[in-house]
Amino acid sequence: MEKIHCGFYGSILFFIILLHFTNGELDYSIQEEVKHGSIIGNVVKDLGIDVGRMIARKARIQTERNSRGYCEMNLRTGDLTVAKRIDREELCGEKASCVLKFDLLLESPLELHRISLKIDDINDNIPLFPKDTIKLEITESADKGARYRVNAAHDADIGQNGVQSYILRENKHFISNTQTTSAGIKYAELVLNQELDREEQQDMKLLLTALDGGSPQRSGTLTIDVTVLDANDNAPVFSQAVYEASLPENSPLKTHVITVCASDADEGVNGEVTYEFNKMSDKSRKLFSLDQKTGDVTVIGDIDFEEGSKYEIYLEAKDGYGLSTDTKVVISITDNNDNVPIISLQSLTNPVPEDVSPGTEVGIINVEDIDSDQNQQFRCFIQQNIPFKLIPSIKKYYSLVTTDKLDRELMPHYNITITAIDEGSPPLSSFKTIQVSISDVNDNPPVFEEQSYSSYVPENNKPGHSLCSVKAHDPDWRQNGTVIYSLLPGEVNGAPVSSYLSVNGDTGVIQSIRLFDYEQFRSFKVYVMARDNGSPPLSSNVTVSVFITDVNDNTPQILYPAPEGNSFMTELVPKDAQGGTLVSKVIAVDGDSGQNAWLSYQIIKSTDPGLFKIDLHSGEIRTQRDISDSDNMKQNIVVAVKDNGQPSLSATCSMFLLISDNLAEVPELKDMAYEDSSSKLTSYLIIALVSVSTFFLTFIIIILGLRFCRRRKPRLLFDGAVAIPSSYLPPNYTDVDGTGTLRSTYNYDAYLTTGSRTSDFKFVTTYNDNTLPVDQTLRKNATDFEEVFGNLDVSPEVGILAEQIVIKHLCFN
Ligand SMILES: *[C@@H]1O[C@H](CO)[C@@H](O)[C@H](O)[C@H]1NC(C)=O
Ligand SMILES: *[C@@H]1O[C@H](CO)[C@@H](O)[C@H](O)[C@H]1NC(C)=O
Ligand SMILES: *[C@@H]1O[C@H](CO)[C@@H](O)[C@H](O)[C@H]1NC(C)=O
Repeated sequence: MEKIHCGFYGSILFFIILLHFTNGELDYSIQEEVKHGSIIGNVVKDLGIDVGRMIARKARIQTERNSRGYCEMNLRTGDLTVAKRIDREELCGEKASCVLKFDLLLESPLELHRISLKIDDINDNIPLFPKDTIKLEITESADKGARYRVNAAHDADIGQNGVQSYILRENKHFISNTQTTSAGIKYAELVLNQELDREEQQDMKLLLTALDGGSPQRSGTLTIDVTVLDANDNAPVFSQAVYEASLPENSPLKTHVITVCASDADEGVNGEVTYEFNKMSDKSRKLFSLDQKTGDVTVIGDIDFEEGSKYEIYLEAKDGYGLSTDTKVVISITDNNDNVPIISLQSLTNPVPEDVSPGTEVGIINVEDIDSDQNQQFRCFIQQNIPFKLIPSIKKYYSLVTTDKLDRELMPHYNITITAIDEGSPPLSSFKTIQVSISDVNDNPPVFEEQSYSSYVPENNKPGHSLCSVKAHDPDWRQNGTVIYSLLPGEVNGAPVSSYLSVNGDTGVIQSIRLFDYEQFRSFKVYVMARDNGSPPLSSNVTVSVFITDVNDNTPQILYPAPEGNSFMTELVPKDAQGGTLVSKVIAVDGDSGQNAWLSYQIIKSTDPGLFKIDLHSGEIRTQRDISDSDNMKQNIVVAVKDNGQPSLSATCSMFLLISDNLAEVPELKDMAYEDSSSKLTSYLIIALVSVSTFFLTFIIIILGLRFCRRRKPRLLFDGAVAIPSSYLPPNYTDVDGTGTLRSTYNYDAYLTTGSRTSDFKFVTTYNDNTLPVDQTLRKNATDFEEVFGNLDVSPEVGILAEQIVIKHLCFN
């Protein structure tokens, strides 16, 4: 083409030079593709040349090489005709003007005429796209207005006959837009008019038609296969907005809880859904796991209802490029009765004093069951048979109160077992044992083992002799139960008891401090107190009666006749005395008592053994037979008085008996003396006897006087017997009653006797009221004698007691 073009230029230049020599130039135009033989023009006419001369002048068409053959000239007519098909597109391509040049050469004279034949274009070509079908891939995420250039359609025709416009068959998404390049080529653009959605329509065919401007108009079409590429424009969507699951607590590991499921409309990676936890507490993170792929939620920890009853887990589903949606999974944990009620002691008074009143609160107990509903209901109780009970207080609190009196001495502590049972199924229970100690209160006095104690101690005991021991028990605790013994103050025989006895404070052993003399007192009572060490202390008293037993330590004392050696006593025995006549009597006393004072009399020596006998018990000496004249006038007998003790003690006395009727014979007494005794002594004896008799009579008179002077008198049997001054008697004949509250220095002793009878009395009174001990039972004056005697058998409380007295065999002949 270029070549042709150049050739043309060359030719043009050539012809310009030639034209200098030519006459004219001819311009013709003809449409391309006209029929063979079509007349282009008549050169003869147009040039004004003689047609006849044509042949002569050898007229001929001289063509350039590329134009060769297209035209023919009829020499006879001068018509220029189309010799062969003229295709403008072939000849000139896209050149805007297409001109074929010819030279008409005439000879003789040489004439050169230029002939230009302009070829006019006709619309003989259709627009053609380079391909019938093109593929276009557009991602669905493309925005509205996006443009996609389509290769231009080509139309061989030029100008108006070239491609003028494009038309896109109507469709939902695209429109077309015809654009022109700087080179003037028109091409089409697809413009996205409405967003694509792969999920709605994945493929579409577009039909683009290119139109030329020719007439008739020609068109070419292009099919555009549009494939909508997936864009990750869809987030996964969960099948439910909220997932709910319920899970029993204590579910084992790997228990399946729920499966979440999300779908993603995208495809490929964009539609690959994975799951993961989103917002989540640390606690739930430890309990649940999520399978990334399957969406299975499983248990990986200990599910404890009490730790949490509801879990809200947010999780998200994500596709390959990270679009995500989240959802909520609500897992409700259902309760199992897996918690025992827990008993806790909130407070406890321990120890509890034993004197608390019933109903006292000693403790507060709290019971808690962290399960829920039925599983947290419970019953709470303690065992029976103890003086405690549980009283429900506010809510889950219980008071432990006493129901009865407590006694530490019976039960020093209680093991209280609190049981709580819940109402789950199966029920769970728990126990708690609390030990409640009872503390001591000094509520028990010491109690003596015996109601009273008595001790028998032989007289003449060694000081330090232990008489007995008292024992008292106090069941209280420690010092409240520690018993200390002591003597209660008192007097025995005018002296404080403590001078007689001592008690060991710890052991209760009672020891004598001094020697006891039965003849001084035979018994006494002391009070021993057992006191505990509590505060205040409690005590109890017990009587300890000490009985002194007699030991045969007194030899019989012969009162009459005077003891051997000093005896000047002579009895007169009438000559005519018959057998059995009472002649005399030996009077003896023994300081001892009982057997030890049971005296027996025996004649151990006599002048005439057959004449007198002595009564073994009474000491009465009687004749055994009638006195005969042959009997010696002076008789002498020696009497032994023996007590019945072991060993027995004895005394002897001798007695002179004068068988005579007449005291005139007394002077002979001198001769009668068995031993050396002067008549002076005998007369002293007589004087003594007379004065004794006189004294006695005076005494009787005084007594009788007292009796008659007072309206109230002691009812004493009083038959004229002998009273012997107390000074005459052994000094310790006072019987002491147990109280020992009197002191002998204030006592006045009187001995009354009814002769040789044994029922003798003593009564005692005092001359000094003011010095008496506080003992109010003491009688204060003689007017009370009658009461005294009227109450002979009264108890030892009576300070002064006229007790049976100990005058033995007191007689006066
Ligand atoms: C109380 O429990 C203690 C210790 O378990 C036991 O030694 C004691 O004997 C129990 N007391 C009673 C009264 O059951
Ligand atoms: C003794 O009893 C008193 C109350 O009478 C009490 O306060 C004290 O604690 C008791 N002593 C002991 C050792 O229990
Ligand atoms: C014991 O005797 C003492 C002194 O007489 C007295 O104070 C105390 O109350 C007596 N105790 C009892 C329990 O009789």
